[in-house]
Amino acid sequence: MRIPLIAGNWKMYKTPSEAVVLAEEVVKELANPDGIDVVICPPFTALAAVAQVLWGSRIGLGAQDLHWAKEGPYTGEVSAEMLRDLGCRYVIVGHSERRQYFGETDENVNKKSLAALGSGLTPIICVGETLSERETGRAYHVVEAQVKGALSGLAPGQVRALTLAYEPVWAIGTGRTATPEQAEEMHAHVRKTIAGLFGADVARGVRILYGGSVKPENAGELLQRSEIDGALVGGASLQADSFALIVKAAMS
Ligand code: 13P
Repeated sequence: MRIPLIAGNWKMYKTPSEAVVLAEEVVKELANPDGIDVVICPPFTALAAVAQVLWGSRIGLGAQDLHWAKEGPYTGEVSAEMLRDLGCRYVIVGHSERRQYFGETDENVNKKSLAALGSGLTPIICVGETLSERETGRAYHVVEAQVKGALSGLAPGQVRALTLAYEPVWAIGTGRTATPEQAEEMHAHVRKTIAGLFGADVARGVRILYGGSVKPENAGELLQRSEIDGALVGGASLQADSFALIVKAAMS
């Protein structure tokens, strides 16, 4: 009952003209993704150009961050309404790179998620522990606290509408993937946390993606797990063929 979602996070790669080329290749490779949602998230500067390419296709557009205010004197920031007006339907919130390098807090993630939902965008809220947190046995506690922080004060209907992504920091860009068992156990823990806060019915409907070195070679074994509802793909989303293979692994 949860439709799988494969999202490509292009991070700070691709100029607008490069992004158009890649988006065109993705559309060509994935003319008609069936029974699955596919989203690409280029940098802000490429969103308008990529929106044109995706127009009329079944591939959705997402941004990588947003500010929580509707508008205001916040130099350099971008609001949910601005993204929505460009044609975005999704927005990544609380990526570990933003938490690590740009001081993103659970409180900000909460405000950004509320702003996204308020504008009709689907937030893809990222959570995940660092290597030292896993090695010292704190992974479950850390991820649970991030989930609780992100979802604080949300209504059950809002929680139903969002997507979570479990991205262990030690697996991002390292080539070291969580095992399907590790990912599934954490996803189950996240779902249990949501059930405790909003009820089992809401928790059953929430999509939880896995992210961290997802490649065509490991996508199949991760995505066949019942608790893993899709993937948030970094490096492998920068090539249309490998991204398409991951999407196809989710469809089979
Ligand atoms: P990689 O797939 O490059 O490890 O990146 C994962 C990620 O951070 C997606 O948001």
